[in-house]
Amino acid sequence: MTEAFDPVGVILAKKDGAVLRPHQIRQMVAGYTAGSVAPEQMSALLMAIVLRGMTRAEIAEWTAAMIDSGIRMDFTDLRRGGHKLATADKHSTGGVGDKITLPLTPLVASYGVAVPQLSGRGLGHTGGTLDKLESIPGWRADLTAEQMRRQLEEVGAVVCAATADLAPADRKLYALRDVTGTVASIPLIASSIMSKKIAEGTASLVLDVKVGSGAFMKTVDDARELAETMVELGTDAGVVTTALLTDMSTPLGRSAGNAVEVRESLEILAGGGPADVRELTLALAREMLTAAGLPDVDPSEHLRSGAAMDCWRAMIAAQGGDPDAPLPRPRHTHQVLATADGTVTGMDALAVGQAAWLLGAGRTRPGEAVSSTAGVTWHADRGDRVSAGQPLFTLHTDDEARISGATAALDGAVELGESAVPAESRILGRVS
Ligand code: URA
Repeated sequence: MTEAFDPVGVILAKKDGAVLRPHQIRQMVAGYTAGSVAPEQMSALLMAIVLRGMTRAEIAEWTAAMIDSGIRMDFTDLRRGGHKLATADKHSTGGVGDKITLPLTPLVASYGVAVPQLSGRGLGHTGGTLDKLESIPGWRADLTAEQMRRQLEEVGAVVCAATADLAPADRKLYALRDVTGTVASIPLIASSIMSKKIAEGTASLVLDVKVGSGAFMKTVDDARELAETMVELGTDAGVVTTALLTDMSTPLGRSAGNAVEVRESLEILAGGGPADVRELTLALAREMLTAAGLPDVDPSEHLRSGAAMDCWRAMIAAQGGDPDAPLPRPRHTHQVLATADGTVTGMDALAVGQAAWLLGAGRTRPGEAVSSTAGVTWHADRGDRVSAGQPLFTLHTDDEARISGATAALDGAVELGESAVPAESRILGRVS
């Protein structure tokens, strides 16, 4: 005889710290997706999970339930010129100025690996990859599964929106977590990310787990636990999965926003760009190429030769974009100046992300339009000497009224000191 489903009993069990049984997890996730479990019941369960945690077995079941709520894509039979194509993907837990997907996808694809990047739009202070790419005239994010497959076979690189039938339970749960203070939980973040990545059908995956003020995980220990949880989920599902722990206490590169980040990505693809963006792009590319069976490749070669840029141009054109069209420029810019002399010892990633968001680069509600031109660029990084009166930031916006709020958000964002700051790698650890 099957046990009657009792959502309140499941909530109370987790509230008391019990380990949920597989059928309880399945019934809650499937019931919430179908509408038979009420949002207030799921909210209560989510908060109990935030406070009590989950075992690895519970997380695996929760992830499987979310995968089974939708379709699973299959790219095992991709071919080009009679050869089977390996697939590799990257996922970042999100950070300020994190534009790595833009140069990384065509760089890895330029070596003959198919990169099916299903990306999202931004919410809050972290930008969305699709919002950035939409600043390119004509480029469109929505592809059918058939168009995606064709582009993977012909170009190798695709960055597009996930279709509604991929892990719909996660889509619904994420929206609820966003308004109930239940985002920051290792079991919930790990299952949310991995359900989408496993359903997407990539054979290998590298995770970029961010640590610091601009990230969900504020400490290396938490980031490591998140990374280990996700690597285990991926490996158990047959996806070759590794993770890098990377520093997000200061924003990445020299820009945060939409068109400004595309511009910086083009610098990387042209063989230049900020050292930290280049370091991370190459490290993640090495992970992806190794997982795809190319451990001896030096990815910096295709930045030098232009092969990665050629692949970028083909990828943008395949999705309706004009790679030669000038990127939009803001109607207004405003400089924030240093008020004292000193060495930059820190820059608050969260404050920079909030400034970009206040300038119009991000949204407060799902579905809201964002401004392509909005963003922040900075002219000094950790370790640089600055003098009073020197520009620290340039704010970019089409709406002049937004400048004062963004300036206020940046007040105190740059820490000045007198001691020398040693050059540090962004890469803090690796999990495999
Ligand atoms: N990104 C996701 O896809 N899910 C989370 O829960 C957090 C970040």
